[in-house]
Amino acid sequence: MKKVTLKINGQTRQYVVSPDRVLLDLLREDLNLTGAKQSCDRKGQCGACTVIVNGKAARSCLSKVADLEGAEVLTVEGLGTPDNPHLIQEAFVLSGAIQCGYCTPGMIMATKALLDRNPDPDMEEIKKALAHNLCRCTGYSKIIDAVKLSSRFLRGEISPDQVRPDPAVGMMHVSHPRPSAMIKACGLAEFSADIKLQGAAEVAVVRSTEHHAKIKSIDTSVAERMPGVIGAMTAKDIKGTNRLKFMVNDQPVLCEDRVRCLGDPIVIVAAETQAQARAAAEAVKIEYDPLPVMMTPAEALAEGAVRIHDEFPNLCYQLPQIKGNAKKAFAESAAMVEAEFSTQLNHQAPLEPEACVAYLEGEGGDARLVIIGRSIMIHSHMATLQGALGWENMRYEEAYSGGQFGIKISITSEGIAGAAALHFKRPIRYIPSLHESMLLTSKRHPFTMKIKLGADKDGKLTAYSNDFIVENGAYMHCGIIVITRALGMLSSAYNIPNIGAQARLVYTNNAAGGAARGAGPPQANLALESAIDMLADKLGIDPLEFRLKNSLMPGQTVSTGAVVEQWPFPEICELIRPHYERAKKEAAAFKDGPIKRGVGLGAHSFGIASPGDAATVSLDIDPDDGITIFAAAADPGEGNDSMLTQIAAHLLELPMEKVRLVTRNTDQTTQTGPASGSRITYMVGGALVNAIEQMKENMKEAGVTSYKGLKDAGKPIRYIGKKSAAGGPLDPQTGQGPTFESQVHNIQMAEVEVNTETGDVRVIKMTTAVDPGPVIHPQNLEGQLEGGMDQGVGYALREEYIHGKTKDWVTFKFPTMKTAFDMEVITPRETPRTKGALGSTGIGEMTMVSTAPAVINAIKDACGIRIFDLPATPEKIKAALAKGK
Ligand code: FES
Ligand code: FES
Repeated sequence: MKKVTLKINGQTRQYVVSPDRVLLDLLREDLNLTGAKQSCDRKGQCGACTVIVNGKAARSCLSKVADLEGAEVLTVEGLGTPDNPHLIQEAFVLSGAIQCGYCTPGMIMATKALLDRNPDPDMEEIKKALAHNLCRCTGYSKIIDAVKLSSRFLRGEISPDQVRPDPAVGMMHVSHPRPSAMIKACGLAEFSADIKLQGAAEVAVVRSTEHHAKIKSIDTSVAERMPGVIGAMTAKDIKGTNRLKFMVNDQPVLCEDRVRCLGDPIVIVAAETQAQARAAAEAVKIEYDPLPVMMTPAEALAEGAVRIHDEFPNLCYQLPQIKGNAKKAFAESAAMVEAEFSTQLNHQAPLEPEACVAYLEGEGGDARLVIIGRSIMIHSHMATLQGALGWENMRYEEAYSGGQFGIKISITSEGIAGAAALHFKRPIRYIPSLHESMLLTSKRHPFTMKIKLGADKDGKLTAYSNDFIVENGAYMHCGIIVITRALGMLSSAYNIPNIGAQARLVYTNNAAGGAARGAGPPQANLALESAIDMLADKLGIDPLEFRLKNSLMPGQTVSTGAVVEQWPFPEICELIRPHYERAKKEAAAFKDGPIKRGVGLGAHSFGIASPGDAATVSLDIDPDDGITIFAAAADPGEGNDSMLTQIAAHLLELPMEKVRLVTRNTDQTTQTGPASGSRITYMVGGALVNAIEQMKENMKEAGVTSYKGLKDAGKPIRYIGKKSAAGGPLDPQTGQGPTFESQVHNIQMAEVEVNTETGDVRVIKMTTAVDPGPVIHPQNLEGQLEGGMDQGVGYALREEYIHGKTKDWVTFKFPTMKTAFDMEVITPRETPRTKGALGSTGIGEMTMVSTAPAVINAIKDACGIRIFDLPATPEKIKAALAKGK
């Protein structure tokens, strides 16, 4: 041990530490300064732990306390508070640079260190100073804006009051600071791993080292005798069904007699410290009998292949889509293209690892199990956990969430934490490493797609066929929903009179697929939008004109045969036209030399509010004439809290501080569906509007405008708002039936440079035109579109999750400031949706769908080669160039 004197946030104290104690652990574990986060298993890759040491930005996970004698340390908590924020904290809030907020404290401290030494940095200096700080939500654009605004504030050129929107200007189309932005900027928002439970045990999980095997024996005897160990538990210690049922009952909390995937959980070890729990988990001995490993759909579908689940065939679901007569239409088409596309297994990559805490309130059989995690559907997940763990009396609380991008539609770490709390009768903290978080979460499904697209001699689309094989991995999660969505939006923005498609979902021993931003359409749309360009090329028609010519029109039908009422796609094509013409002209100048420039388009009409969707919101008028909104609408960073607050403040002409939100626990809210599918604005916003309309109607009837007036008139003070989308199943023979109630349309342009010698692709700029209906909060809208473009470029060019090999942010190829590019959101068209929340609809996934095809089409435009298999790595591009196609 060593005695060290440190000045932390102005207070000088002595600390006695072991030689390997890092500053991050001293701050978080010993001093409860949890503003500094950790995302990368202390490898120095994420920057979430950045603080300032002796005036310089330092990754606190790499700084040994023993080496810091006499140092001055400043953390985000020492910079400012919500009542007295630092100008940099103000700038991050006012720039819309804070979505989930997990990266924010580190970003702010890196910015402070930069501006202390250079008050007016240029773009390159900003990118260099923040090169070690990762963000998954923003695409870095608004973070760069925040650094620039910080420098202007600090130089005294402008003040926060001059930037902060005046509440008097209204609530619609105004970027008022998000309700939680300032506490995130000050490091005070509590994420799951920040929650301290007195007397908590730490748990570690023994996970399968095999892809597919029978469990022959489990020996925990050595582990249980190790220092600090409280005990070990296996599946037989779980009293419930031990099944985390989403769509089918195929995934255990702890495996009983068989593992189906590398990383499957088998034993939970509880100990007094995390290090003790992890050491003991290493000492658990498990013997396996190997079973055949099937890592691809081809292996799982082969004659005689072993069933991965006894109860279900490996070909676990099929869905056809038959509209018109595609075969006949292809025979009569003047032009046709055929190709096979494939997309990779990918990780959604939220910055926050899958932390969860759980504890019992009370004792014995009446005790209440409380689980705190970052579910995006707390009521459904609680019901699943009640069955799985065999414990009815439960409450789920949503902590602040470091992003999720679909992962949290599935239960991740909650089953483990809950089971351990019940078994060991101790509060439990389960803080898996990043690598373990990757092993235990569902991923974006890989698709293989054989397609044909035909057109007549005038360039009108005649028919489309697509034969999808979708790798489900070892567990179902929401695989059926993913292929239903892929087919439900198959025709995208276009009028395609004849469709012959089918999707087959196949279990393998690979990582399980699940929801991932867009969930189905990003994969399917790569094939369609690539084929659109291929066919336009064959017909000698410009890609923009070809898309315009084939736009669906109101009264025509999408691929499910459902008729649409509104379709403002042609208008956004016209919005992008001048940008497209400018970019084509600029690219033409790069004909000679090894660097080629190209321009590509990608479009999509993304469905929101699937058939049968429903949302409920409760609204109370409070004694001070403010309101409280009760709805289990998660906000993992998209800005749902802002949306609900501003809609209510707008309709009731209330100041924002009089709109209170209760969204984060199952006791006080009703189920309102998941924060997924871009549905919260349209569905939950719609239910809120309905509740407010009822309240206003009652006020009107009573001739009052206040809480007291309503009470005195005997009118309710609580109103239940509802919003539902017309339902009905698809015909199982044809896949025909109702479609999404609303669509958001976009067309997007990628400008890229391809180095034909190295195969490297650099995205120079992405430009997107979108019609989301009336905009509530422009910064939130832009933030979602920009974040989707950044993730889309990663998907197109770099990211690929290889189960067991992708272990951290470097092997994942996480996007950085260095890979960031210019983005432009063309002032959106705001066609009011007939049934939307004040006409608005959702945009959270939109650009994720159209980015990859725009990039792939731009690569083709640049250098003449088309990539059919994502990601478009330099190796693939070089190989295709060498082949000349
Ligand atoms: S936790 Fe320090 S850089 Fe990631
Ligand atoms: S706001 Fe940066 S990771 Fe979410």
